[in-house]
Amino acid sequence: MARIIDGKAISAEVRAEIKKDVAALAEKGIKVRLAVVIVGDDPASQIYVRNKKKACDETGIDSEIIAMPAETTEEELISVLDGLNSRREINGILVQLPLPKHINEKNIIAHIDPKKDVDAFCDENVGRIMTGKFSFLPCTPAGIIELLHRSGISAEGKECVVIGRSNIVGKPMAILLLHENGTVTICHSKTKNLSEVTRRADILVSAVGKAGFVTADMVKPGAAVIDVGINRVDGKVVGDVDFDAVSAVAGFITPVPGGVGPMTVSMLMENTLEAAWKASR
Ligand code: GUN
Repeated sequence: MARIIDGKAISAEVRAEIKKDVAALAEKGIKVRLAVVIVGDDPASQIYVRNKKKACDETGIDSEIIAMPAETTEEELISVLDGLNSRREINGILVQLPLPKHINEKNIIAHIDPKKDVDAFCDENVGRIMTGKFSFLPCTPAGIIELLHRSGISAEGKECVVIGRSNIVGKPMAILLLHENGTVTICHSKTKNLSEVTRRADILVSAVGKAGFVTADMVKPGAAVIDVGINRVDGKVVGDVDFDAVSAVAGFITPVPGGVGPMTVSMLMENTLEAAWKASR
């Protein structure tokens, strides 16, 4: 039976450490402040933004939530970002995605000052992940690396398979596992014989967005299975992994909810703290 990687408990540990660091900066007169911009009324986004605000409260980071109506134009949003970029007391800026269809997300991300881009979504920060000269790591992949470290799982010399090639999770995840000296394969919708590839994985990360996608026959006995999926089925939140069946085969598994999700938010706090520290020097 797989050991459950408790993302909530590990996340609480991380947040307690961040809280100490935020307090230490406050002693030196340095405040840490995150601005979160949300456009429209997507219910999932509203929950995510609420969780981010809660994490700020837990860690002592000041937060400013800017809620804009769904009809907001791209120009109006850019003007808000210009304002946040120029305010010295704002260390981190996050625009919650997805944005309404009439707004070009790439264009918006490009308008966030890279030094305040705590999601690490802009081209400069994505490029820095490749070379290892990064200031911020993207929150979900960084959270997964932290979960592995704190669970005593090393990627060094291991077969690591990532399913999914998004710019936010799959691609940066593969690079971070490579930095950890893993042997990394990225699978996607055109991959042939997917289960043959995934069965080689000592560490299997699924970021597909389909409930029940990873079945027990796709998993090597003893593997660490990391589930990034957040899918809604009959009003219930589930991951990509068939949790019950895969738990019987895997060595470690992350639950959904309570696995990767809380760590993503904790890494956002870490990036905001880092931004404040860098801005003060
Ligand atoms: N929407 C879903 N996940 C994320 C995230 O990590 N950052 C932002 N900005 N939007 C998201």
